[in-house]
Amino acid sequence: MVQPYSARMRARTEELRQQGKAVILAIESSCDETSVALVRDGRQVLALQTASQIDTHKDYGGVVPEIASRMHVEAISWLVDAAFRDASMAWQDVDAIAVTYGPGLVGALLVGVSFAKACAFAQDKPLVGVHHIEGHISANYITYPDLTPPYLGLVVSGGHTMLVRVEDYGRYTLLGSTMDDAAGEAFDKGARILGLPYPGGRLIDELAATGNPEAFAFPRAKVHGGPLDFSFSGLKTALMQLAHRQGEAWVEAHRADLAASYQAAIVDALVGRTCQAAEDTTAPVVVISGGVAANKGLRRALEAALGQRGVRLLAPSLGLCTDNAAMIGAAGYFQLMQGRIAGLDLNAVPYLPLGLVENV
Ligand code: KG4
Ligand code: ZN
Repeated sequence: MVQPYSARMRARTEELRQQGKAVILAIESSCDETSVALVRDGRQVLALQTASQIDTHKDYGGVVPEIASRMHVEAISWLVDAAFRDASMAWQDVDAIAVTYGPGLVGALLVGVSFAKACAFAQDKPLVGVHHIEGHISANYITYPDLTPPYLGLVVSGGHTMLVRVEDYGRYTLLGSTMDDAAGEAFDKGARILGLPYPGGRLIDELAATGNPEAFAFPRAKVHGGPLDFSFSGLKTALMQLAHRQGEAWVEAHRADLAASYQAAIVDALVGRTCQAAEDTTAPVVVISGGVAANKGLRRALEAALGQRGVRLLAPSLGLCTDNAAMIGAAGYFQLMQGRIAGLDLNAVPYLPLGLVENV
């Protein structure tokens, strides 16, 4: 009698764990990037193909979920073909399939999850459901081949701002998080007030390089949470009120100084709490991740502040900071090695807490 898929996959996963080796085909579709990667042993990217939808969503000033889902459907299968072509590989070279199943836009996630389940079933390969933020953190395993838990992590993306202690692969202690906007959201909302297109984080970063960070004294928020929590909505309101008071022409004339001062306030909050967390946990290394980890001002300020305390800063290479499937392949490998595979009933989970990953 033929064993059911789940029993076959448990046996196959056990074999892979014994070998300690696996090529993962990884899929990411949680927001506005469709991305497919082939990753060997969690550390080596064999192929990475990403189709960004930003040019389409730009016209709406943000991501339109319905459009995002439809564009994922159109892109996903040719991205898989392109990844195989780049790596000169085929399905028989793949040991398992990893896919982001949350958090994110539910319709967008469902495209990747459904596609990955269909591939896993048709190709008879184990399936791994990956937490998107776990993916961001795991981008560092690619950039730093010797990095292993435990370490202190700062996650700064469009939807999340968190200080976590990474105890082990897939095990996190939350030390602090944002009470309102995420750091990336603060960048994007600030950019919008300054008349910059979506997503404006990178544009603020570029403008800030030419402006004076001390030109305007934006508030450094008092947070009514724990000492390591963040709050960025007051900062955004301060910029909005200033812009309304002064008018569009003034904003345009002072854009670089506004961007530099606004960015400095965000960076100050992130650097202050991260240094505090590093002291509290006596961490020798801090690992940053997420789209905002690409911010040059943040990287420079964190490196300097942590360096003074004898703490080393690790950040992913720029291309691995924003959403990509290589990071999902890295996280997927370490999950597979722990035997944490999913069944064909894997579903998209738009609000998924970190550290609670479903097992078969
Ligand atoms: O991690 P990510 O690609 O998507 C989420 O999971 O949310 O992060 C996207 C966010 C956006 O808010 C974008 O504006 C921000 O990262 N971002 C930046 C920079 N590059 C991307 N923010 C500041 N400086 C940058 N250089
Ligand atoms: Zn992301």
